[in-house]
Amino acid sequence: MSDSLLLQTRQGSVVVLELNRPDKLNALNRALIGELGFTLRTLDADASVRCIVLTGSGTKAFAAGADISEFADFQAPQGEDLSREGHEQLFGFIPQMQTPVIAAINGYALGGGLELAMSCHFRFASQNAKLGLPEVTLGLIPGYGGTQRLARLVGKGLAIELIGTARMLSAEEAQQAGLVNRVLPLEELLPAALETAQKMAGHSFPAIARALALIELGERDLEGGLEAEIQSFGSLFQSPDFKEGTTAFLEKRKPQFN
Ligand code: COA
Repeated sequence: MSDSLLLQTRQGSVVVLELNRPDKLNALNRALIGELGFTLRTLDADASVRCIVLTGSGTKAFAAGADISEFADFQAPQGEDLSREGHEQLFGFIPQMQTPVIAAINGYALGGGLELAMSCHFRFASQNAKLGLPEVTLGLIPGYGGTQRLARLVGKGLAIELIGTARMLSAEEAQQAGLVNRVLPLEELLPAALETAQKMAGHSFPAIARALALIELGERDLEGGLEAEIQSFGSLFQSPDFKEGTTAFLEKRKPQFN
């Protein structure tokens, strides 16, 4: 097993990133958060990368939270810095990416681990996955976007119940709640995420990137999102992919996007 905190493999235009601290259930220490944020920035700027799958190494965890051993003796200013740094480096960055990131949740996704999965564009989970935000058991709240993103994904009432009770959802419950899109046997999780990633990678990248940005904008501002959709829709008519996509349809062939 490599010593690297983050493993990277590539299949065509899809990159798989694997959080690699299996003996600590892939707990997110500062070094891993920094490395993941840096790697995602690099991949997002690489035009040859069309989709990213993020998963955890081992068979037990996606990530069991922020690394508790790193902040156990913190005071208030350090706590605030920890949260702000995480937002800036990683958790707030993923939703702004033009490259879609799919979380393949292969076991526990707790605390910062679930917050990381919720920052991704969508989620698949293995049948053994358990998802929750147990920070109140440590006298804390979720600090990497969990209070905001969980409520948006599953609704306010369930988010309050889950944060308040620290209860973990099974994969099936998470799917029913809209937190994950699909549930699969563990051995089928990565192949299914890769198949979906390859499918997205075969479509027009500028069009997908625009759709991601508009959906993100619409979460904060419906009117602004609708106006931006009108303008983006129009501007895509000038793109080479529009020409290719419509020509391919009329010629009854598959489009070849650059
Ligand atoms: N931070 C730091 N280390 C963690 C961790 C975390 N969030 N989650 C797990 N680990 C470490 C454990 O300390 C243990 O390390 P050790 O072998 O050196 O003692 C190792 O990962 C394995 O975890 P362990 O607790 O022995 O596994 P388990 O199967 O008995 O329990 C969990 C699994 C997920 C229920 C349990 O690890 C847990 O409750 N983790 C913390 C979850 C949490 O509160 N996350 C939110 C943090 S903000």
